[in-house]
Amino acid sequence: MPWDPVKLNSGYEIPSIAFGTWKLGNGSGVVNQVDQAISVGFSHVDTAQAYRNETEAGVAIRESGLARSDIFVTTKYSGLDGLDIKTSIHNSLKNLGVTYIDLYLIHHPRLAVPDIPTAWKQMEQLKEQGLVKSIGVSNFGVNDLATLLASAKIPPAANQILLHPYVYAAQAPIIDYAKKHNIVIEAYSALIPLTERPGGPVDVPVNEIAKKRNLAAEQVLLAWVKAKGAVSVTTSSKKDRLQRYLDAGDVELTDAEITAIDAAGASAQSHELWRSRV
Ligand SMILES: NC(=O)c1ccc[n+]([C@@H]2O[C@H](COP(=O)([O-])OP(=O)(O)OC[C@H]3O[C@@H](n4cnc5c(N)ncnc54)[C@H](OP(=O)(O)O)[C@@H]3O)[C@@H](O)[C@H]2O)c1
Repeated sequence: MPWDPVKLNSGYEIPSIAFGTWKLGNGSGVVNQVDQAISVGFSHVDTAQAYRNETEAGVAIRESGLARSDIFVTTKYSGLDGLDIKTSIHNSLKNLGVTYIDLYLIHHPRLAVPDIPTAWKQMEQLKEQGLVKSIGVSNFGVNDLATLLASAKIPPAANQILLHPYVYAAQAPIIDYAKKHNIVIEAYSALIPLTERPGGPVDVPVNEIAKKRNLAAEQVLLAWVKAKGAVSVTTSSKKDRLQRYLDAGDVELTDAEITAIDAAGASAQSHELWRSRV
């Protein structure tokens, strides 16, 4: 399962696959899902104010019995209830029942109010206060990141973006820009070819590779994310599938396999897959 940790520009390491809590709702079901993911071997939980289940994620993390340092917690400033960053972080810490967040992200550039430099300054203060180990962004494009970097004292450690084969070509500029500035890309919704676009052109190379290597299609897509140098942020309600996700850490796609998936993704019209996911 070596989903090797990735070094962030903050000096900390991030586990390269995360279990996400978007769409899980609230209540004991969420606690059980996060608990299941941790018990299978996930050590990175990705949540957000907007998912409204930080509390449940926190319960599962505490119930896991793992030391706080053995679990990497990402949450996001989503502008919930119109609260600002410095108020929201305290709510997230309280909800999660932790004394620090490993990675705190601005969920979307439109939430960076009144503007990106001012919002980022508040993020930097959280790091200086020791409330968060690393700070980053989500859904930022090249112009957003350039605006941020122009005034930043601390560069963002990560940019969490929509990344699957149908949007890879469109996302290439932000991936290249992030790489140039030593900002880790986190890929969410990488399984869209399976969940929202079954029967599309990407299925052809993915199914061929899966058949040839005796893998599940979702493992091929996660291996593709890994090949792009991105951290995978995924989820599943099923224990056997979570195990397969982790096993995909051992899969190294060949250049020809990666090129075939890229080409199939680029061949399709994909605007409908761009709708906002925040
Ligand atoms: N920063 C942002 O703006 C943002 C936006 C969206 C998401 N995220 C993060 O990314 C996480 C994952 O997002 P996502 O749910 O869109 O990710 P995803 O990894 O693309 O999809 C996960 C879903 O794929 C299903 N799946 C897996 N293999 C399948 C197959 N072979 N056939 C059909 N379905 C299959 C799983 O269903 P089962 O439960 O049935 O296994 C699961 O619900 C979120 O929880 C959140 O933490 C962040």
